[in-house]
Amino acid sequence: MGKPHAVIFDLDGVIVDTAKHHFQAWKQLADELGFNFTEEDNERLKGVSRMDSLNILLEIGGLNKSESEKQELAARKNKRYVEAISVMDESEILPGVLSFLQELKEHNIPYALGSASKNAPLILKQIGLYEKFNAIVDGNSISQAKPDPEVFLRGAEELSVAPGNCVVFEDAQSGIEAGKSAGMYVVGVGDPAILEGADEYIRTMEEMTVSRLEK
Ligand code: BG6
Ligand code: MG
Repeated sequence: MGKPHAVIFDLDGVIVDTAKHHFQAWKQLADELGFNFTEEDNERLKGVSRMDSLNILLEIGGLNKSESEKQELAARKNKRYVEAISVMDESEILPGVLSFLQELKEHNIPYALGSASKNAPLILKQIGLYEKFNAIVDGNSISQAKPDPEVFLRGAEELSVAPGNCVVFEDAQSGIEAGKSAGMYVVGVGDPAILEGADEYIRTMEEMTVSRLEK
């Protein structure tokens, strides 16, 4: 694609592995509601907003809940999730992330966060990266969840870079679709047998360099 003018990173599954903490918290809620929730079920929640995740969970359990009950359940899950992420530290940054961020800095390529999570600021502070991002767009500031492109378009806008000159890193199918609808170059992070529609794939951020993107 040539040298990118900006990079936008998803958070969960790209910079840190929080899926295990989400899984534990959702599983505990499912246990309390009286049904089983598996790691395979958890795959369906990747990249999906908190309320949409709860709706999928309730569908798996075959349960109907009122709006106020849903608010209570989502808050209960989030309280436990926040307890888990409040003890995270920089050792949980995924391999290859720090060296790639350093490389972007050396090339004067700005980077933003584009995450569905309302807990993104807390996580970035815990792992010591909050100050390093040139812009942070997260679940607190968007009105449309991925696969809508809003989160990435806002990131590009805040960096004052045209969407076509941005590269997105995403581990979730909904996020890959959001990046492509935003008109960006999308690198899928994970198993290409599971993910589709990205411009290229890497297994982990360790495989990524600026010169690879330039090719
Ligand atoms: C995404 C995760 O980044 O954030 C989803 O991949 C999660 O699994 C979503 O549901 C919302 O997170 P939070 O922290 O606002 O509940
Ligand atoms: Mg993700």
